[in-house]
Amino acid sequence: MTGQEFLQAAAHLRDEAERRIPGAATLAELEAERIYFLGRTSGRLRDLMEVLPTLQPADRREAGKAANETRVFIEARLDAVRAALTPRQGAGPLDLTMPGRTVWRGARHPVTVVIDEIADIFREIGFTIALGPEVESEWYNFSALNFPADHPALDMHDTLYLESGAVLRTHTSPVQIRTLQRYVPPIRVLVPGNVYRRDFFDASHAPMFAQIEGLAIDEGVSFVDLKATLSHFARRFFGAAKTRFRPSFFPFTEPSAEMDVECQICHGAGCRTCKGTGWVEIMGCGMVHPAVIEASGLDAERFTGWAFGMGPARVAQQRFDIPDIRVLYDADVRVLGALAP
Ligand code: DAH
Repeated sequence: MTGQEFLQAAAHLRDEAERRIPGAATLAELEAERIYFLGRTSGRLRDLMEVLPTLQPADRREAGKAANETRVFIEARLDAVRAALTPRQGAGPLDLTMPGRTVWRGARHPVTVVIDEIADIFREIGFTIALGPEVESEWYNFSALNFPADHPALDMHDTLYLESGAVLRTHTSPVQIRTLQRYVPPIRVLVPGNVYRRDFFDASHAPMFAQIEGLAIDEGVSFVDLKATLSHFARRFFGAAKTRFRPSFFPFTEPSAEMDVECQICHGAGCRTCKGTGWVEIMGCGMVHPAVIEASGLDAERFTGWAFGMGPARVAQQRFDIPDIRVLYDADVRVLGALAP
């Protein structure tokens, strides 16, 4: 072989590599190409190199250089195809200085946050948690709570009746009866749970919502205990915000009251959420009606007590500045990220 022929053979080898290597569809096929071209015992380049010592000494230098360039050329083609076939992590080369991505681990719903916080405050003053069924009998939901049949208060408690005559409970108050039947006073319980009503779904109503009931029964309990305990709770939960009690009516309490807190969204100036009044009603409360105590099988001459029912969604609305209650039910996880502490 002359030096010229050697240079031509090297050029052919590069052409061949250019044609064949990109055809490799897998890493295994690519490895077969590598062995074909660069294999140490019988590769095409090795065959060519074996000719090198037989050339005229004057041609060897240039031929050696061409052989080397051919190796570099083939290796570059192999590398390019290998990079294309190798599964990649991330878009570019690994950059260890990149800040890590925050992992979304989820968060508690604002209503749950509020329920837990309320439960903590009442736990400190001796309340325990009690639970009751969401499917309830009319007796527990209405009769035992002193709702006379056909009473107008029932209108606000329109709900779904099941075929068995049971109802989806309209409030957590039936758990008052269940607790009084089951435990001996002194009783101090907090009852979180979901309730159902035939309500429209608007900025301040939902057909299903959470409530928290509170009940304290013992000998010699008076309205002073109610007011002192609920004021303590309001100070703990709302800080410096003003609160007020207004007379009200519930069939199962006598006397009855509503507790309002100064609207935390407008700070008393009046806004859409507080309907311009500057106050938001957060709970109903009152002295447990003797008929309720009697219906539970306890002696109303001996035991007295007080109760309240609170809407934690309303409270969450105040705590987290949420103008429309519907965002709490929209199942948009951005709410959790933005509102939960
Ligand atoms: N159960 C009432 C309701 O859902 C709220 C309520 C008012 C509960 C006064 C009470 C209470 O325990 O004392 O509208």
